[in-house]
Amino acid sequence: MAYDTSPDIMAEQLGFLFPALREAAMRRYALIMFDEARQFADSLGKEGDIDLPQAMNELTVKIASRCLIGQEVRDRVDTGFAEIYRDLQKGLNTLGFFLPRLPVAAHRKRDEARRRVAELFGGIMDARRNAEASPDDFMQTLMNARYKSGRALSDDEITGILLTVLFAGQHTSAVLATWTGLELLRAPAYLARVRDEVQEVYREAGSMSIDSLQRLPALENAVRECERLHPPLIMLIRKVLEPLRYGDCVVPAGTMAMVSPAVSHRLPHVFADPERFFPDRFAPPASEDKQHHYALIGFGGGKHACMGKNFAYMQLKAIWTVLLDRFDFSLSGAFPRPNYGSWVTGPERPCRVRYRRRAQPSVFS
Ligand code: HEM
Repeated sequence: MAYDTSPDIMAEQLGFLFPALREAAMRRYALIMFDEARQFADSLGKEGDIDLPQAMNELTVKIASRCLIGQEVRDRVDTGFAEIYRDLQKGLNTLGFFLPRLPVAAHRKRDEARRRVAELFGGIMDARRNAEASPDDFMQTLMNARYKSGRALSDDEITGILLTVLFAGQHTSAVLATWTGLELLRAPAYLARVRDEVQEVYREAGSMSIDSLQRLPALENAVRECERLHPPLIMLIRKVLEPLRYGDCVVPAGTMAMVSPAVSHRLPHVFADPERFFPDRFAPPASEDKQHHYALIGFGGGKHACMGKNFAYMQLKAIWTVLLDRFDFSLSGAFPRPNYGSWVTGPERPCRVRYRRRAQPSVFS
């Protein structure tokens, strides 16, 4: 599947994702994102403390499974799917990258989890076929899709593509959602601007939708600044297939070529005072990210740029508009450092935040 098949088939397989990310679908997803964020906020009660990375992980699994797979999987998140998914995630480690078949406990659990996912998704697809049901979701899109050759996708291929998309988009979103919350908490003046912006937009619009989310530049620039300072994927890797000339150098075939968003986002000639959290750098007139085509590459660039960037931005904005509207948050300890030992670079744990329901009437209550 995907990276493990030929480039042509991979392009066809990832191409099936396009209808799921078109505007009509994104309109529906926005409502789902708000709904899940609201349910999560309701579950928190009046005050307490949470492990922010874990909370964002749980919330984004629910959003991603409901938007990108299907309601039936979302309904099973708390009754088995989250556990299976955790075992799959644990199988995605450095050892597995180099020696994917090494018989160690994490890999055995990963393979067992993959078998159980196939069983779960296969059962859902059978039930849909028997009931002649055709819900408007990505699983159904794949069930109806055909390769250029006219061949339908097997259930196993559909399972693989759904997992590819889930893996590409869920954990990365959880991590960037966490960093966005953390940075806003230590920038109270900016956070107040974000809150004012949200209040104003929702008072005018009177409801929550994709259109309102598109009118939140202060929040959007905060997310962009977190993409710059804390890109979840810190290393993008390619293998050079043919000798490649760059300036005076020739990069020989077989070389691993890498670019690190975490490093290039800190080049002082591209981003002024690069260590500083300063979302306004993206607003006119500075628009620092527009000064170079590849200045901001937290979602990659070129042929394999992220297909889910708009989905991810919308999700992060929906989550934090709801949470900041409902609660005041504060960090329980020092601002965490990045954990570079993980494939997706989140904050070091523990990373707990305290929350208290706000006295002001909420836009979303
Ligand atoms: C904050 C969240 C996300 C981040 C930081 C992120 C980052 C990235 C990056 C850096 C790449 C390029 C990898 C490379 O060049 O090797 C990529 C590719 C990809 N992303 Fe995302 N992503 C996120 C969310 C999503 C979501 C929500 C989806 C799906 C809805 C998604 C689907 C994909 C796919 C399918 C690719 C492969 C594209 C290709 O190879 O042609 N991503 N992502």
